[in-house]
Amino acid sequence: MKGKFITLEGCEGVGKSTQLKLLIEYLKENNIDFVCTREPGGTAISEKIRGIILDKDNTEMSAECEALLYASSRAQLLQEVIIPNLEQGKLVICDRYYDSSFAYQAYARGLGLEFVKSINTFALAHGVPDLTLFLDLTPTEAFKRKGGADLNDRIEAIGIDFHNKVYNGYKQMQELEPNRIISVDCSKEKANTHKNIINILKEKGIL
Ligand code: TYD
Repeated sequence: MKGKFITLEGCEGVGKSTQLKLLIEYLKENNIDFVCTREPGGTAISEKIRGIILDKDNTEMSAECEALLYASSRAQLLQEVIIPNLEQGKLVICDRYYDSSFAYQAYARGLGLEFVKSINTFALAHGVPDLTLFLDLTPTEAFKRKGGADLNDRIEAIGIDFHNKVYNGYKQMQELEPNRIISVDCSKEKANTHKNIINILKEKGIL
């Protein structure tokens, strides 16, 4: 495909939205043609699926159902947004992608990597990121920084043990795919993290 595809990953509260905003400002200032989207969501259908997944009243949702909903939201986003824009040669940035399913559903929920990969085969075949930035900050540090978990968010409210498993899941993914997944230290000032992100994107030939 002509364009480059990058994804941003990390645990809750690591400053992903802030870094995304800074990255978008940088791309605009430098006249780089890009499309930014998010998961779950990014298309009208995927946003509806997002509403079901993140609804805190859906307490009876099984881990399998959750994993399949994330995968279906992703399938739509890939076909409707990611692939067409890559074909046009654009830089596509996605806020979370299948590594979130590997970290949250495979490792933290315990569904296993094999199962979660099997329901994501379309993305693994036709939408592999050129680069994934893992915003690295432990859940303990992240929740301390944001003043505790948001109890209205079904996922944030699960508890620290779950989020530690997510963190370890990301670390394991990084060990499995060290060339694609690059860790970015998020414990310092946000301007510092932003500079590191730009440097990595330049080094990897994305910018
Ligand atoms: P969101 O409010 O977008 O969180 P954040 O700002 O942290 O990105 O909610 C997305 C939630 O969905 C987040 O808790 C991570 C979770 N998630 C998964 O568990 N699996 C997935 O495949 C994806 C894309 C997200």
